[in-house]
Amino acid sequence: MTDSRRPWRVVQWATGAVGKTTLRAVLDHPDLELVGLYVYSDRKAGRDAGDIARRPTTGVVATRDLDEILALDADVVLHTPRIGIPYESCDAEILALLESGKNVITTQGQHYPIAHGADREQLFLDAAHRGGTTLFGTGINPGVVVERLALTATGMCLRVDSVSVREVVDASGMPSPEFVFDIMGMGSDPTSTELLEGPLPTLYGTLFAEAIRYTTDRIGVSVERIEPDHVMYPATRRLEVRAGVIEEGTVAGTCWRWHAIVGGRRFLTLSITWIMDKELPGLTDSHLWSVSVVGVPGIEMSIDLVDPPNPDGRLTRAEQYATAAPVIAAIPLVCQAPPGMFSLPTLMPWHPSLSRAQA
Ligand SMILES: NC(=O)c1ccc[n+]([C@@H]2O[C@H](COP(=O)([O-])OP(=O)(O)OC[C@H]3O[C@@H](n4cnc5c(N)ncnc54)[C@H](OP(=O)(O)O)[C@@H]3O)[C@@H](O)[C@H]2O)c1
Repeated sequence: MTDSRRPWRVVQWATGAVGKTTLRAVLDHPDLELVGLYVYSDRKAGRDAGDIARRPTTGVVATRDLDEILALDADVVLHTPRIGIPYESCDAEILALLESGKNVITTQGQHYPIAHGADREQLFLDAAHRGGTTLFGTGINPGVVVERLALTATGMCLRVDSVSVREVVDASGMPSPEFVFDIMGMGSDPTSTELLEGPLPTLYGTLFAEAIRYTTDRIGVSVERIEPDHVMYPATRRLEVRAGVIEEGTVAGTCWRWHAIVGGRRFLTLSITWIMDKELPGLTDSHLWSVSVVGVPGIEMSIDLVDPPNPDGRLTRAEQYATAAPVIAAIPLVCQAPPGMFSLPTLMPWHPSLSRAQA
């Protein structure tokens, strides 16, 4: 496909914090043309996309009607709905979009479906082949931090004994009470078995297993099992956050943590810590992401994002820009890729077997 296909015709699916960021990026980019907008909320249905995005009128009206979206002539859908329980709850719409001839770039997981077995990957491959389309799950984490940055860092080592990646996000500015209390588990009883073993750890375990398996597969090690090792942080005081109130003693921080066991040892540890109070003990000096590789040599890498200047008072945070950016950058690549699952090339990582590298 050549540049003569531009602008790419884009459908935006959902206008939450990430979706509004990708929507504005589409509206602002001369190579991209918005042709459709799917929303969930009754308040937004029927409104012009420009109105929702605080941009000039576009003539594209938000709809809640899936069939209207499926009927559109579009190159790609930027699929950024809220992640649901169970993890598979968006499968039907992703499959329908792929079958209708639209490439899909999603922030709602689906980074490496084969992590959950060949059948799950085949589900998407079949739909993609029927529609002549491509699916790509991306975002910053999962998406970039583990699968690109940490994986690439291992290529600086002659030997890798273990890798750990730690995320610490201050989520106190997140606006959605449904997301903060229902999907993140904030405000819950920190000792509840339901919290530590129920739908939330299953959801995040399923999502992040894809980043873990992608990384270990690219390195070429065989994971015996992934061990959960979660920690809940109770609020040390009553908190008034953007989404509501978190009472003292209820969950004000969650650390979803997994160890990938290789050769009987912890080879890759991923911890995803979301906090509603920057003063929680042990978390005050944390970087957004810290990558540690133990090996020869060892590597310590820390990554922080900086909020851009905000002259018009918009509340878009650096994390939302960083999640949106890989989605936007992927548009031409995914639209021009052969049908199936899209996968980015991997820079030369460390691998235990040289014969594998030559294969
Ligand atoms: N990989 C990464 O790095 C990364 C980072 C951040 C977020 N994410 C993922 O990106 C997605 C969007 O994040 P966000 O911060 O934009 O979330 P958000 O602000 O909570 O917005 C999500 C949007 O989903 C829509 N929605 C409402 N009810 C829904 C339902 N029952 N099912 C599905 N969607 C519903 C709404 O769209 P309307 O307002 O248009 O009606 C809502 O605004 C989430 O799945 C999140 O997990 C990934």
